[in-house]
Parts: sequence; C-alpha cells; structure tokens
Amino acid sequence: MKVMITGAAGFLGRRLTQALIARGMLTGPDGTDQPITRLILADLTEPPLPEAEGIEVIRHTGDLSDPAIRDALCAEPYDALFHLASQLTLHAEQDPDGAWDVNVAPLRALIAAAQGRPRIVFASSIAVFGGHLPTEVTDDIAPLPETTYGIHKAVNELLLLDASRHGRIDGRALRLPIVLIRPGVTQPVVSDRVAAIAREPLEGRDMEAPLTPEAEVPVISAGAVIDGLIALHDAPARLLPPKRALNLPALTVTVAEMVAAASRAGATGKVTFAPDEQMQRVVNSWPRHFASHYAKGLGIGPDASFDAIIQDYLTHREGSA
Ligand SMILES: NC(=O)c1ccc[n+]([C@@H]2O[C@H](COP(=O)([O-])OP(=O)(O)OC[C@H]3O[C@@H](n4cnc5c(N)ncnc54)[C@H](O)[C@@H]3O)[C@@H](O)[C@H]2O)c1
Repeated sequence: MKVMITGAAGFLGRRLTQALIARGMLTGPDGTDQPITRLILADLTEPPLPEAEGIEVIRHTGDLSDPAIRDALCAEPYDALFHLASQLTLHAEQDPDGAWDVNVAPLRALIAAAQGRPRIVFASSIAVFGGHLPTEVTDDIAPLPETTYGIHKAVNELLLLDASRHGRIDGRALRLPIVLIRPGVTQPVVSDRVAAIAREPLEGRDMEAPLTPEAEVPVISAGAVIDGLIALHDAPARLLPPKRALNLPALTVTVAEMVAAASRAGATGKVTFAPDEQMQRVVNSWPRHFASHYAKGLGIGPDASFDAIIQDYLTHREGSA
C-alpha cells in the first residue's frame, strides 16, 4: 500500500511517519488490512530518512505552493494520504493569499490526482469554530472561523466532503486542539507559544507565559493525535458523521495547571506571566470544551491528564526534535 504524508518533516508528520512504520499496516481503500510498501514523504524542508525495513521511502522536498513541486507530488500514485502540510495562524494572518496557496491549493490538486478512491485524512483544527459558542462544542456545531487559517481549514473540510460525495476519494477530517509539546526552541505560532509554557520550564529555562494563569486551553498530546489520525483513517465510512469532519476531544486545562504539572515532572525553569493581547484574543476565540459522539465511537479521545501529555513529550523529545 502506498501511503503519502505531507508536512512529513513537521512536529506531527515525524511522529506519524514513525507510528506508521512501527505499525506496518493500514486499512486499504477496499476495507481490508494491507501492508505499507511505500511511504511518500513531502515537505518544504527535507523529511528525515526513517529506518523502515521492507518499506520503500520516497522524499519530495519543496514548496507545495509551487505548481511544479505540487505536480511532481501529484504524479505519485497513493492509496492513503495524511495531509498535514500547512501554514499556521500567524503566517496566514500576515499573508492570506500566500497561505491559500499552501493550505488549500495542494489538497485540491491531490484530490484531483486521486485514483482508486483513496482515503484522505486531513489535520483540521478547532480554529474552524468561532462566534458565540456553547460551553461544550459538539460535532453538530457549524464552523464559523475567525482567522484566515481557520477559514482555510474549513474550506478543506468542504473540499473533502464534496469529493467524497462524488466518489473520487474517501475523505475524513479530524479537528485538532492545541497539540503539545513541540520540542525545540519556541516558534512564533500560537500553538507553540502555548507549548512553551510547559516545555521551557521542563528544559530548565525561565519563561514569560503569554496568557493569564486562568486562561483555559484545550490540549492533547502528539501521541494521542497520531493514534486519532490512524484510527480515523482505518474507520469504516459508515461510522463517520455525515459531514466527515469530527472534533478530537481535548483535555481542558488552565495555564496554571500546566505550570503545576510541569513542576511535578521536575521542571526547574520559573514561569512568570506577561499576557499578550493578540495571543489571548486568538485563544479566546477557540472553544474550551469538546465532545464528539463519533470520535468516542471510534475510540478516539483525549489524554487522561496533563501529566500524561508531559510524559509523551519526555518519551519522544530526543528523536523528534
Ligand atoms: N500542532 C498543533 O497544535 C495543531 C493544532 C491544530 C491543527 N494542527 C494541524 O496539524 C498539521 C500538522 O501540524 P504540526 O504541528 O506538525 O505543524 P508543523 O509546522 O510542525 O508542520 C507543518 C509542516 O508543513 C510544512 N509546510 C509548510 N508550508 C509548506 C509548503 N509551502 N510546502 C510544503 N510543506 C510545507 C512545514 O515545513 C512543516 O514541516 C497542520 O495542518 C496543522 O494545521 C496542528
């Protein structure tokens, strides 16, 4: 089975690559388990070459907003696609047109190139939600994005829905909350600035948290996301919601709880608070609590505690930095 991952050099792409190699199998378009024989890894920066006995690994390095790079990737036949490549919130706000070429155009081209009705799993985001939201956001709440990034995610969900309706692909979208804890140095993206609140003290570095201690954030570990993406891929289509997009239920924690859990795990860096107005506004526009009847039915769920999220980071930080 030929499996393509875009964004394969990223935080989640690397973990997904490793998880698929360890698993060695996925459900094929016909619904039967099939061995993975070829992995096609695409990213702007070269994805690391994984050890993958018995699996042919092909790497496509280049900017997917460049039509020549996109065409080369689209010429690769695939039986399953995990579409993770994306520009994130702050970049998309600064350059909405450029972000469209990265966030939307490649998925559209990959759908057009699809053969044999492959399953496509798309990493969507809770950023599709906005406006007046109930305390608990379920799969039934209609998207109303308040950022360009959220709009691009919602557009992609609809592209997958329409192409699935036409029988060209079997698309599925999982709306991720804030995924923690990205290794490395702090990046100027909202999710990583949240991650830094736990990561920096765990790495022995002092940090200024850009949110108030009371701010609530819906979070999940990278490990739980990868399990969720693979479970969604393998799920029979009859168990999906009609719109083929579902929320990944998150653990809701306050910033103060994150800091306390990091301290329990032995963090030595000190945290002070210096809320950033733009950052707080973006986070405030996200829902706090998620529920997904469909995710629950597929065994897709949140981490048990923030301590478990820290443990996931401590276990994987060396290999994925
Ligand atoms: N991490 C989170 O908190 C979070 C939350 C919600 C949704 N998501 C979604 O999950 C997916 C993966 O997120 P991540 O945390 O691994 O992000 P990431 O930034 O680490 O990975 C994204 C990858 O996309 C690649 N990319 C960006 N522009 C590209 C281009 N023009 N051409 C080719 N590749 C390009 C980047 O090089 C990067 O490796 C994204 O679609 C993101 O929107 C992530």
